[in-house]
Amino acid sequence: MNYTEYISKDILQLFEEKKLVTVCAPMVRYSKLQFRTLVREFNCDLCYTSMILADSFCQSAKARNNEFTLNLSDSPLIVQFAANTVYDFVGAAHMVSPYCSGVDLNCGCPQTWAKHMGIGCSMLNQPELISDIVKQCRNRINKAFTVSVKLRILKDIRKTVDICKNLEKAGVSFLAVHARTPSQQTGCIDVEGLKLVVENVSCPVIGNGGIKNFRDCLKLQENTNCKGVMAANGLLTNPTLFTETNCTSIECVQNWLNICYNSTISDYEISKTLFKIPERPPNLTFQCFHHHLVFMLEKILSKTKRRIFNSLQNFHDVLLFLDENFNVKPEFYNYEVFNVRKNLDIDYTGRDEIYQKLKSEIYDKEELITSVQEYNYDDRDGIFFKTKVTRDDSLEFDLENIFI
Ligand SMILES: Cc1cc2nc3c(=O)[nH]c(=O)nc-3n(C[C@H](O)[C@H](O)[C@H](O)COP(=O)(O)O)c2cc1C
Repeated sequence: MNYTEYISKDILQLFEEKKLVTVCAPMVRYSKLQFRTLVREFNCDLCYTSMILADSFCQSAKARNNEFTLNLSDSPLIVQFAANTVYDFVGAAHMVSPYCSGVDLNCGCPQTWAKHMGIGCSMLNQPELISDIVKQCRNRINKAFTVSVKLRILKDIRKTVDICKNLEKAGVSFLAVHARTPSQQTGCIDVEGLKLVVENVSCPVIGNGGIKNFRDCLKLQENTNCKGVMAANGLLTNPTLFTETNCTSIECVQNWLNICYNSTISDYEISKTLFKIPERPPNLTFQCFHHHLVFMLEKILSKTKRRIFNSLQNFHDVLLFLDENFNVKPEFYNYEVFNVRKNLDIDYTGRDEIYQKLKSEIYDKEELITSVQEYNYDDRDGIFFKTKVTRDDSLEFDLENIFI
């Protein structure tokens, strides 16, 4: 089957056609295929994957399988990589290029471990390297797809403007600007700074930071003239945010159950109509399933019920709770829906040629030594979730930066 017509939707055309492009932010642990499928049902135009370490992606089949899955309805999609070398970023971009609409370079992650590795926001100290990575990616991949950068602003906004102007010269397709500095944990974003960036570049700019509802999206566009608006925390709490609702609907919870319970069923089961709702969805972690529900229900449940729900430990108890409280349970997809939502097989055979070529050129020159970073974000709860749940007495969780 030729996937390309389904999964390579043109992002630049989207910016031309839509007055306001609505975007689901990259979120480690959370912007996975199932969540992207959900937000796309509720007016989200464009999704990012979580940040993926480009070097492990290029070197490890396990990292590729863990970090990147998609289905036919998962488009337009941007795969976000963290990298600090041309060969890692361009190599990884080439590998995923048949399966997405664009790649993005993370220049915003403020985590200490990322700074130690010289990736994320520390890339902002090397503006020439960022431009070089973008330029080489543009020139080396023979496919019409976007190369974008997501960055935080710097204290001296003129430096941010310079970086953005240079990125434009290097051929960046668009920019996503989180209008907080790397040391800013939460709080107000720099609307004026964002506006200045928009005024100084001609490529589309996606504004990001502090979006809690659709009114915030419209206000940010009005104040800055940004072409798109990206939300992270706001979408976790309310995946229907872009449909102008104030909190998660029961329909959204129902859809989440359906997505989770159908998304990992095999073709064989469906063709033999052997399927009945399984005890638990195969190949889906309880964390992924439960964390999202914890976020979605945080404004719907009373404090007492929220405590009970947040402490549940298995699929069965969650389903029981949801059935008793909201009268929802997973429903079986019909064949058409199943077909566009089942996981696609991704074939990387031979796709590491650019990575190997670029890397060997560098090795010849500098004898670089690298090691594969094996990582799996799903094997523990993560600070972001733990802090949310332990702070459950308050409804105002504002922990945008704690995402590992
Ligand atoms: C749980 C979580 C995970 C995140 N992971 C990423 C990531 O992988 N890549 C990235 O560029 N930003 C990441 N961010 C930052 C968001 O994309 C976004 O820039 C930030 O949260 C500000 O948006 P908000 O105010 O709408 O939450 C993450 C944020 C959260 C809350």
